[in-house]
Amino acid sequence: MSRVYNFSAGPATLPVEVLEKAQKDLVDYQGNGVSVMEMSHRSSEYMAIFEGAKENLRKLMSVPDNYEILFLHGGASSQFAMVPLNLFSAKKKADYINTGAWSKKAIAEAKRYGTVNVVASSEDKTFNYIPKTTSDMFDADADYVHITTNNTIYGTTFPSLPEVGNVPLVGDMSSNILSQDYDVSKFGIIYAGAQKNIGPAGVAIVIVRKDLIGNALDITPTMFNYKIHADNGSMFNTPPSYAVYVAGLVFEWLLERGGVAAMQKINEEKAGMLYGFLDNSSLFNGTAEVNSRSTMNVPFVTGSDDLDAKFIKEATAKGLKTLKGHRSVGGMRASIYNAMPVEGVKALVDFMKEFELNNK
Ligand SMILES: Cc1ncc(COP(=O)(O)O)c(C=O)c1O
Repeated sequence: MSRVYNFSAGPATLPVEVLEKAQKDLVDYQGNGVSVMEMSHRSSEYMAIFEGAKENLRKLMSVPDNYEILFLHGGASSQFAMVPLNLFSAKKKADYINTGAWSKKAIAEAKRYGTVNVVASSEDKTFNYIPKTTSDMFDADADYVHITTNNTIYGTTFPSLPEVGNVPLVGDMSSNILSQDYDVSKFGIIYAGAQKNIGPAGVAIVIVRKDLIGNALDITPTMFNYKIHADNGSMFNTPPSYAVYVAGLVFEWLLERGGVAAMQKINEEKAGMLYGFLDNSSLFNGTAEVNSRSTMNVPFVTGSDDLDAKFIKEATAKGLKTLKGHRSVGGMRASIYNAMPVEGVKALVDFMKEFELNNK
């Protein structure tokens, strides 16, 4: 087996134990004579996989009983439309905090259906920080407030959740779900594409407070209505069955390792190693403001495009892959999700030290 350390932002590295388990059961799932991919989604074997995944996610995030967990198609991007279509009342107005390209896409989509008030933005500094907000900045009469908890491209995370009073808080948690403890009851909706910290692309997770279900705008397509999916246990149509199965294996893997709190400790250790090096480096600089730093995505630069390119090339040759920054910002980015082992970050830091010495 020759695995590299894969720092991709998504689809991202998966735990090797999960891949091996899936491989073992690929052709014949536990004596059923068929692959999970080939099973009817309504068979008792598949229902056990699906409900088990849902229950384990509930356990991992301590999701209260008054929240539905949905496994949907369409990625996080479909939620950019589903959220306003399902939460807009007759007022049709929402507050958004703009912390990056994904927030902007969510804002653009909500604007198609109602009024968006951008309460705060960090666009003035290429989104390298999380803007501070106070409760009086939010409209108490808004249908919801939307934030992107972790900004994959710029490597920023909300250090604490904004105070939004009784207005439902909606969080796009695509790139830091299950990486740190969140109090789900502080949110009206949490959503995430799976392909960073959960499993393969193809399934999006939506955790939605039950009282927010059932009020979709009349124009809402059937497939975009939370009530349809909640009433049908996420099986209104064929669910992304194999992606949910692998996500379920990741949930088991997380539970075996002590759950989210244990992962958070390891994530802080990994990120601490990398930021610790960056803060003392004479060549590399982290680009996110210290108070807004993400433990999941760590962007950094040398200050020279040529050196950045040389670094990426040499790192790739050493088995440290996909370190190129997002095409919109350049430089480097190490995505160090739950499945990235501590050894992977150590190997990266060791190589950065070596590169720094050789390129003074
Ligand atoms: C924070 C965030 N939101 C949304 C998306 C879009 O997710 P999807 O490709 O599942 O639509 C991404 C993808 O990278 C992301 O990082």
